[in-house]
Amino acid sequence: MSRVRVINVVLGVLTFVAMYSLWRLLYVPVRFEVRAQNVNFGLQEPCTSGGTPAPNAFSWDDIIPRKDLVWIDCDARRQCACLAVPLNYSNPEGEQAAIALIRRRASVPESSDTYRGPILFNPGGPGGSGVDMIDMAGDLFASLLGPEFDIVGFDPRGVGRSTPRASFFKTDVERALWGSTGLGTFFNNSDEGVARIWAAGRLLGQLAAERDDGHLRHINTDQTARDMLRIVEAHGREKIQYWGFSYGSVLGASFAAMFPDKIERLVIDGVVDSENYYATLWSNNLLDTDKVIDHFFSGCAEAGPDGCAFWAPTADDVRQNLTNLYDSIRARPLPVKTDFSYAILDYTFLRFVIFRVLYSPYDLFQTLAQGLADLAAGDGRVLLELVAGPPFQCSCNPAAHRYDVVGDGQVAILCNDGDDVPRDLQSSLEYYKFMTNISNWGDIWSTIRLSCVGWPKFPKDHFQGPFNANTSHPILLVGNTADPVTPLAAAKKMSSFFNGSVVLTQDSPGHCSISAPSLCTYTYIHDYFLHGTLPKPGTVCDPIGGPFFKPPLSDSAAQVPFVREEEEKELFDVAEKLSRVPIIPFPFRM
Ligand SMILES: *[C@@H]1O[C@H](CO)[C@@H](O)[C@H](O)[C@H]1NC(C)=O
Ligand SMILES: *[C@@H]1O[C@H](CO)[C@@H](O)[C@H](O)[C@H]1NC(C)=O
Ligand SMILES: *[C@@H]1O[C@H](CO)[C@@H](O)[C@H](O)[C@H]1NC(C)=O
Ligand SMILES: *[C@@H]1O[C@H](CO)[C@@H](O)[C@H](O)[C@H]1NC(C)=O
Ligand SMILES: *[C@@H]1O[C@H](CO)[C@@H](O)[C@H](O)[C@H]1NC(C)=O
Ligand SMILES: *[C@@H]1O[C@H](CO)[C@@H](O)[C@H](O)[C@H]1NC(C)=O
Repeated sequence: MSRVRVINVVLGVLTFVAMYSLWRLLYVPVRFEVRAQNVNFGLQEPCTSGGTPAPNAFSWDDIIPRKDLVWIDCDARRQCACLAVPLNYSNPEGEQAAIALIRRRASVPESSDTYRGPILFNPGGPGGSGVDMIDMAGDLFASLLGPEFDIVGFDPRGVGRSTPRASFFKTDVERALWGSTGLGTFFNNSDEGVARIWAAGRLLGQLAAERDDGHLRHINTDQTARDMLRIVEAHGREKIQYWGFSYGSVLGASFAAMFPDKIERLVIDGVVDSENYYATLWSNNLLDTDKVIDHFFSGCAEAGPDGCAFWAPTADDVRQNLTNLYDSIRARPLPVKTDFSYAILDYTFLRFVIFRVLYSPYDLFQTLAQGLADLAAGDGRVLLELVAGPPFQCSCNPAAHRYDVVGDGQVAILCNDGDDVPRDLQSSLEYYKFMTNISNWGDIWSTIRLSCVGWPKFPKDHFQGPFNANTSHPILLVGNTADPVTPLAAAKKMSSFFNGSVVLTQDSPGHCSISAPSLCTYTYIHDYFLHGTLPKPGTVCDPIGGPFFKPPLSDSAAQVPFVREEEEKELFDVAEKLSRVPIIPFPFRM
């Protein structure tokens, strides 16, 4: 299990939000690891301003934002661009925002009859970077979707290399220190714990307001949907082709409701209840979370002692063993030191690691089992390495991480998008009770809404629904039977708003379809993009194998009779890799 890979899973996606408290633990390492394996973007300024590019390296400085798309090579495989768009679409001739883009070009030439234009991607978050996503996985998506399409990622306004950029801290160091104040240790231990999270939310809102240069209010999903339309138009096209994950489903559904006649193809995958999102409730996400951990218990028991390091004879035995571990770590936190990192592994930490692993069972269940078995024997290193990167280090270059993807963007987008959250402590205490009553994981999840308790009061005159629409082409929704944060019920609910839309169900644990390799799912998605065809309502796809079990490939043929046989092996290989590339941001990427 590569540490880098796992950490990046964290970067990956939905909708997790703003636990600044975990920044130091998770967020900072994520930033560093992601950069380390990315394109060498140099020590750059944002695409809107000047700076001194590193010699011979691509730098966003080299790209002046323009109203037309001008792609330049950012490495051997990718091209980058920076699109100038209105900061406020009600005032199109006013100040401009700049959207950073990356693409993996179609292999067929644009002049070819078979060329089908760009597919835009969003990895979720909110606040995830589409540039990072396509940098990491552009080739995999291209293999899945075919040579006809450009695979295009962009950093939404507020995020990464795009401007305006959400940033509540003057330096990386200040941001890292905010994350190390110990706020992460207060889940579920007392009313005082909730009050501390509330207080942190109030303080964060004050920082955001005081450091706002007037641009913060323009960072929202409504404006980003308009940016997407501009991106489409800058390609010389009228209608969008889009695949959005997790929070990217809110962005996709919003686009479809705002511009129903601009839909050529639109897939939303790992679907959020957008009404619940715009109400800043975050109360519909955890309906299936326990199903995922149940998969861990039953899968481990079935795998046998050779297949699962935390094996016990029945699912209930495995569950009981985990409960025992919780109890012992609650009573006695464990100091852990690895070559890369160190931490105190306590109850909160353990639950957090497990919650994170639920996003990617196919990638991480076996490692989790090893980590739990080791922990039972007094060794916490594997669990630590599942999430932690190196401790924060100051950089010699103050601009080194200036354009990293930081959690500020997530908070800005979700707090701006949603209804105002009551600012008093009592309401937060009641909300916390409400959430912990809904789910065992409600304590972790409730920090998302609480990150908005001090948010500045901007006018809420942007799009927040309604979603009913007759789209120019029916949209495709994809939901897993056991998704930890985007339950299938939300996909069904959102589908009811869009005439002709279909929910494709994937029978797997994990977040978004790409968390499990299913040739069936990918074939439907491929055919949707290429031919516009939808699966029959009620279609259920199986993944190949399970988190603890990889069958010989020949077993997969039966599941998709229509997969072209010679391509099957390659497709499976791509699907496998996608389930292990950390592209969907973990919301607690604070
Ligand atoms: C955008 O511009 C319009 C027209 O000038 C203005 O009424 C509106 O308040 C602006 N939006 C924001 C978020 O400032
Ligand atoms: C798990 O449970 C089984 C039986 O219930 C027990 O024999 C075993 O020691 C337990 N393992 C751990 C690591 O707690
Ligand atoms: C907890 O949930 C139950 C069942 O949904 C409900 O009847 C009860 O009122 C809830 N309690 C609180 C404090 O929300
Ligand atoms: C929260 O704390 C209470 C009391 O300590 C405990 O009974 C409960 O199981 C805890 N909930 C979670 C999700 O850990
Ligand atoms: C969709 O079209 C039908 C019939 O053409 C119409 O009654 C309905 O109001 C439309 N819905 C929306 C949201 O435009
Ligand atoms: C819904 O879409 C179908 C085709 O998908 C179309 O025949 C029908 O008129 C649409 N209904 C509305 C209300 O627009």
